[in-house]
Amino acid sequence: MSDPLSTLSLTELRERTSAKWRRYDPDVLPLWVAEMDVELAAPIREVLERAVATGDMGYASGTAYTEALSSFASRRWGWEASPGQMTTVADVITGYTDILCLLTEPGGQIVVNPPVYPPFYSYLKAAGRRIAEAPLGVDMRLDLAALEETFREVTAGGAPAAYLLCNPHNPGGTAHTRGELEGVAALAERYGVRVVSDEIHAPLFYAGETFVPYLSVAGAERGFSVMAASKAWNLAGIPAAIIIAGTKAADELAAYGNSAHHGPTHFGTLAQTAAYNDGEPWLDALLPSLDRNRHLLATLLEEHLPGVRYTLPQATYLTWIDCTALDLGHDPAQHFLEHARVALNSGLTFGTGGSGHVRLNIATHPDVLTEAVRRMGASTHRG
Ligand SMILES: Cc1ncc(COP(=O)(O)O)c(C=O)c1O
Repeated sequence: MSDPLSTLSLTELRERTSAKWRRYDPDVLPLWVAEMDVELAAPIREVLERAVATGDMGYASGTAYTEALSSFASRRWGWEASPGQMTTVADVITGYTDILCLLTEPGGQIVVNPPVYPPFYSYLKAAGRRIAEAPLGVDMRLDLAALEETFREVTAGGAPAAYLLCNPHNPGGTAHTRGELEGVAALAERYGVRVVSDEIHAPLFYAGETFVPYLSVAGAERGFSVMAASKAWNLAGIPAAIIIAGTKAADELAAYGNSAHHGPTHFGTLAQTAAYNDGEPWLDALLPSLDRNRHLLATLLEEHLPGVRYTLPQATYLTWIDCTALDLGHDPAQHFLEHARVALNSGLTFGTGGSGHVRLNIATHPDVLTEAVRRMGASTHRG
């Protein structure tokens, strides 16, 4: 199979009409939102083409999607999760927001680990919840002492509280270890905090790194996970997600399943089912390309932006770069957009710890990545 990140030219990519390629002017190289510059995996394209050709555009039905995730999890991670523990939902954000609202009350507190994916704040605030921050350590790993302190604070008043974990972590791709996750589960039990783990990036682990499903660790039985194939197979425009309940959260899952929540579209469900069932060869071709790009980025930064701090991600294509040494102020993404014509995510949107940082998406052609970092370097030499 050819290298999925080297098949599309910049000219072809610029014809795309999705957010990544249309938010900014045509001279800007976009390395921001979590879209990948790849063609669709053949098994997914075939399923969608068949649905389009036959007008198969009704409502989603059946259990094929949850069965596909159950088999994928068993093959890929050796983790047995039964379709009976799962329910489908429109997308991952809807999944975690709905479950967190079920587990807490209006005004209730949700713990997050900044710097973290901005919609961990926005959607929960819009749903009337308050966010309590337990920052990651400077090494971007979970800080269990900070987490315990925050759990103590959010439960002090007696109201139900919950914790939204990002596993693996976006940004920066930290792979939480079994030991760390067991520590989380033990703290959650001790303080009565319910855990929801966003595991959308789970298939995107580099060789030698291990994804540990939160629900597979001892003590996590009252937790929830939310998964989808969207990030690993680039299906953000046709989402469909799955909520998985721990073995002691079955009643709440049943209550949720019977509620009037938004289910996924049939089209999205077909695509994501095909990804889990037949998309592994494509994923296994993608991961070495991403691996080359995460190393290429290290080399490029050393050459063009010495002084920035970048740690190779263990998972995901969403790298996190500390630009404080460049003296570009709180928002280096703004500088790079104006002076290098490169679009990155501003670290400021990721909560505490985001100042002076940018998120850079490496899921692009290596030539685009090379030109972007060259431009970023040149922009810092201007007088
Ligand atoms: C951690 C995380 N959760 C959720 C999402 C979005 O998921 P969805 O489009 O299914 O709501 C993203 C997208 O980048 C993400 O990084």
